[in-house]
Amino acid sequence: MHIVSISGSPSQRSRSAWLLQLAHERLADDARSERVIAVRELPAGALLAADVGAAPIRLALDDVQRADVVIVATPIYKAAYSGLLKAFLDLLPQDALRGKTVLPLATGGSLAHLLALDYALKPVLAALGAREILDGVFAADAQLAPLPDGGFAADEALLDRLERALEPVAARCSA
Ligand SMILES: Cc1cc2nc3c(=O)[nH]c(=O)nc-3n(C[C@H](O)[C@H](O)[C@H](O)COP(=O)(O)O)c2cc1C
Repeated sequence: MHIVSISGSPSQRSRSAWLLQLAHERLADDARSERVIAVRELPAGALLAADVGAAPIRLALDDVQRADVVIVATPIYKAAYSGLLKAFLDLLPQDALRGKTVLPLATGGSLAHLLALDYALKPVLAALGAREILDGVFAADAQLAPLPDGGFAADEALLDRLERALEPVAARCSA
């Protein structure tokens, strides 16, 4: 099972990237290979110019193509996914997610934009061909408390939701 994660936060210290990391750690033992694509680390000029020939971007797109499972994490910005994530998703071929299992994750300042996963992110994933989109996991900032070491402490309810969302992937990994 090849697992590729896409982190769409522009922030270095990122709650959504942390949530993604938690998901990755839970699947790591069963995965054949895994890669996290931090879109913020791709060359900005090439990303904005849609230069799919730039080596780091080409490699990232190829990794997505090879993946069986794609986990997509974004902060909620202005009631939708981040522009950074969209800049990367725009470079994927039209059917890039067809046949893959896709798990959407998001973090937001409050629960008010919980539905952004359903009305904003999932339609884009579906437009890219994804037909197996797992239950998304949304975390409010208060559910990921900052720790002095730079990480975050996830509350129990959030960990339970993440565990449930990952069950179909974990079952596929160990089949
Ligand atoms: C420019 C900007 C816009 C934001 N817009 C929203 C929003 O519309 N709804 C919301 O719930 N949180 C909003 N937030 C809060 C972030 O979504 C939240 O802090 C999130 O956890 C940040 O994720 P990150 O640490 O991975 O970047 C916004 C934050 C920024 C910086």
